[in-house]
Parts: sequence; C-alpha cells; structure tokens
Amino acid sequence: MATGHLDIALPARIESLEVRELQAEEGATLQDLFDGLPDYATLFGDPGAADAVSTFLSLPEGKDYEDKFLFGIWDGVRLVGAGDLIRGYPAANVWTLGLFVLDMPHRGQGVGRALMGWVEGAARGQGAAWMRCLVRPQNEDGAHFLTALGYTKESELPSSNRAVYQKPLG
Ligand SMILES: CC(C)(COP(=O)(O)OP(=O)(O)OC[C@H]1O[C@@H](n2cnc3c(N)ncnc32)[C@H](O)[C@@H]1OP(=O)(O)O)[C@@H](O)C(=O)NCCC(=O)NCCS
Repeated sequence: MATGHLDIALPARIESLEVRELQAEEGATLQDLFDGLPDYATLFGDPGAADAVSTFLSLPEGKDYEDKFLFGIWDGVRLVGAGDLIRGYPAANVWTLGLFVLDMPHRGQGVGRALMGWVEGAARGQGAAWMRCLVRPQNEDGAHFLTALGYTKESELPSSNRAVYQKPLG
C-alpha cells in the first residue's frame, strides 16, 4: 500500500468505501458531488461558495500544499464524499478538518463516525494531540454530529462564518 504525502496509508478501506487523495483531474467529479447536495446552502452558503476549484486551492495562511490532504470517499466508481484535512494548523499538534461531507444516501448509517475515526487515527499516528473541525453556525446537524463524536465548541470565527469544534486525540 502506498502512502500519501501526509504519510497516510492509501487507499484506505472504511467499511465498504475507499478513501484516496483527490486528483486535480477529478475536479468535475467533486463539483458533481457538491451540486448534488440538497443541503448545500446550509453547509456552504451562497451557490458557488464551495466549488471544486476553490476546494483544491484553499489553504490556511502560512501552510503549503505539503500539509493539505484533500480526500475523496468512493463507493465503487462513485464519489460519495470528501474531506479536506490540514496537518499542523493552527498549531503544530493540531490537525484541522475544514470540509467533511457525505452525499445523502450514505448519511445516517455510521459511515461518518467510521471515517472520522480513521481521520483521527491518521492524525494521532503522526503526533497530533488535537483534531479541529470547522462548521458553519447554520449547520446544526453538523454540530450534533461532532458533539456525538466527543467534540466541543471552542470558538467562532466571524470573519469566515465558522464555528470551531475540537477534541483531544488522547
Ligand atoms: C456530518 C456527516 C458527515 C455525518 O455522517 P453520518 O454518516 O451521517 O453520521 P453517522 O451516521 O456516522 O453518525 C454518527 C453519530 O452522529 C450522530 N448524528 C449524526 N447526525 C446527527 C444529527 N443531525 N443530529 C443528531 N445526531 C446526529 C448520530 O446519531 C451518531 O451518533 P451515535 O453513533 O451515538 O448514534 C454527514 O451527515 C454529512 O455529510 N453532513 C453534511 C456535511 C456536514 O454537516 N459536515 C460538517 C460536520 S464535520
């Protein structure tokens, strides 16, 4: 098994799904995933606020692409989810998940919990002490999910309209 540039063993199998890094040429596939989300406005705001191109490019200040892991979640040949993980942000021992989404048919069956367990394990395995997740304050379901997984709300970032949830990785 190969490892991605964050030293995460890939592709990873989580239940019946496969996780691997999204490639630039898969931008249209990621866009299709976004376009198919009926709760897009709650998750991202205005149409176009999250598009595939900006998801590939987005990077917090001071980080470079070596610290970014944009992953796709595949059910066979179909892209059914995505996540954007940043290593060592905003502190060396904190990893930040700025985007994490599943399509509707894959929600509510334990897949999100299993995937987050895998993400947390990957971060912990490389010395992260904290996982940090960002959600829009309007996204109450996302907040409930994070709370169910043991995250607590730490702060809000009004400039980016995000609430910050954190959890010690123990
Ligand atoms: C958030 C998301 C990834 C969760 O994935 P999922 O597969 O639906 O979640 P799971 O089925 O694994 O649920 C895990 C736990 O969260 C809880 N949960 C999930 N959604 C919930 C909701 N809307 N209200 C209350 N609890 C919820 C479940 O009850 C479950 O708890 P339990 O294991 O103690 O029973 C998925 O719903 C999604 O893509 N939502 C849109 C994107 C989003 O909100 N992202 C921000 C969160 S990082």
